Amino acid sequence: MMGTAIFLTLFACLPVILALNPQCNPGKEGMLNVHLVCHTHDDVGWLKTVDQYYYGAQNDIQRAGVQYILDSVVRALLEDMTKKFIYVESAFFFRWWDEQDEDMQNNVKMLVDEGRLEFINGGWCMNDEGGAHYNAMIDQMTLGLMKINSTFGENSRPTIGWQIDPFGHSREQASLFAQMGMEGLFFGRLDHDDKDTRWANKTLEMIWEGSANLGKLSASTPKSHGDQMCHIKRCMHKDGQTGFI
Ligand SMILES: *[C@@H]1O[C@H](CO)[C@@H](O)[C@H](O)[C@H]1NC(C)=O
Ligand SMILES: *[C@@H]1O[C@H](CO)[C@@H](O)[C@H](O)[C@H]1NC(C)=O
Ligand SMILES: [Zn+2]
Repeated sequence: MMGTAIFLTLFACLPVILALNPQCNPGKEGMLNVHLVCHTHDDVGWLKTVDQYYYGAQNDIQRAGVQYILDSVVRALLEDMTKKFIYVESAFFFRWWDEQDEDMQNNVKMLVDEGRLEFINGGWCMNDEGGAHYNAMIDQMTLGLMKINSTFGENSRPTIGWQIDPFGHSREQASLFAQMGMEGLFFGRLDHDDKDTRWANKTLEMIWEGSANLGKLSASTPKSHGDQMCHIKRCMHKDGQTGFI
């Protein structure tokens, strides 16, 4: 199940409501505007090593080769002005970036400037929330975000937290993201009962104040003091059932 699920998230597009994203199509007022945005979910080491994931080795274990995702996505973006993509894991992105020539790097800079290639989350990886110490969470986010900033400038700063695969979600993560300036957070693996209740009651979107001490500050961005909106995702399995991935 896990293998299938990860495969699906690697290549699937999710319905993503990105009302807070300035690069988004403005949509129509008075209507529910749903944006479909293709994204990555590239585990920085899971069933295979990081190198095997990057180069596409050992595909009998899991069919995944991250370098080809970046090659083909960037080509598709350059060929079609209307296309957009969000990329999540800095560890893989910068490995690929370091292998590109100057022309390609300039093309990618242009795509980032245009908002057609956008970084989401932007940490070195999508960290675990249950077992990881908060120092390590901050460190790995810092590494990725600083590299994005030093390579692409401040306008490329990720504004959406993207935690679609960790097994369970902690309020500290939500609070840290808000303090990092994230304006929204997508996550996927909350408790089954909580998820079913929210599904039934149409409360899969919420404002999450992650820190009792910081209160509103842990739910807002330093820039706007707006609220960090949480979206809990529900995904389609191959058999058409909604469920967890
Ligand atoms: C982002 O990079 C620029 C240019 O290198 C630098 O001046 C700035 O301090 C960086 N911002 C952060 C938050 O590190
Ligand atoms: C929806 O919320 C109400 C309270 O606001 C609660 O009583 C009810 O059980 C919830 N529905 C489900 C399916 O949990
Ligand atoms: Zn994963």
